[in-house]
Amino acid sequence: MKQVIQTIAIPLFRNVTRFWFVITFLGQLAFAYYILMLYYRSTALGDFEKWNTASPHFYVQGDVVGNLIFGSHVALAAVITILGPLQLIPQIRNKMPRVHRISGRIYIFSAFLISAAGLYLTWKRGAIGGLFSAVGISINALIIIVCAFFAIRYAMQRNIKLHNQWAVHLLLAMSGVWLFRVFFMLWMLIHRAPVGFDPETFTGPFLNALAVFVYILPQAVVALYFKAKFSNSAYKKLAFSLLLFVITIGIAIGTMGAISGMWLPRI
Ligand code: HEM
Repeated sequence: MKQVIQTIAIPLFRNVTRFWFVITFLGQLAFAYYILMLYYRSTALGDFEKWNTASPHFYVQGDVVGNLIFGSHVALAAVITILGPLQLIPQIRNKMPRVHRISGRIYIFSAFLISAAGLYLTWKRGAIGGLFSAVGISINALIIIVCAFFAIRYAMQRNIKLHNQWAVHLLLAMSGVWLFRVFFMLWMLIHRAPVGFDPETFTGPFLNALAVFVYILPQAVVALYFKAKFSNSAYKKLAFSLLLFVITIGIAIGTMGAISGMWLPRI
């Protein structure tokens, strides 16, 4: 039995990680498509009222600063959602290091800007959801800023091992907003009704738990990933593979729910 586990653990770990990556990349491309079709297209057509499709307070007449910041936020959202997963593809890193470096700089710069814009929108303009959501997404912004700082610092020091680790932490922090929508839709698909939250105020225990689950917990999963990757223990690799497999199935179903129930109907 021990022999069998040792034989399958490494390929399983590699393949489940690839499976997670492919599902995440496709899901993030779908989110980017939604952002392009809803926000980029309406902005290009001068139809700013269309920004309010998801919520009525995104385009506020007279609030020039707030509108500019929201516009920049969603403009950057599409950029980082496409660039993020591309940075992790080893073939691009190895065969086109210049592309990786340039797009990495754009990604890190955008990470700082999108977080700053997000913090402004949350605390100055007022976001949907209660105080818990506001604090949760602000912690996400701080995690992004810290990970972006260390990812660029270790890249400049040519410490590739630590740069890679911080870059993966950064990608997961930057995916928090996308994961929120994906797991929210998974929950809605399971319950077929607003369970654990008030759909009018968009507050409630489920949304509080979801904020912790998508904004903070992925950092622990990344830490576990590197522990399993660098460990000689086949059991650690196997256990992590099973955990990631279950999470990925949830992401795949939630993404399909988000595409059909949230993103396509709005564009
Ligand atoms: C880093 C990845 C992020 C992406 C890809 C992203 C994407 C988006 C998108 C697409 C919207 C428009 C709403 C929609 O159509 O679903 C939005 C709105 C918003 N974002 Fe972000 N965002 C990110 C990070 C953040 C952060 C870190 C914060 C807070 C610190 C934040 C705060 C907000 C707020 C307050 C709104 C207005 C919606 C509301 O009232 O809740 N975002 N974001």
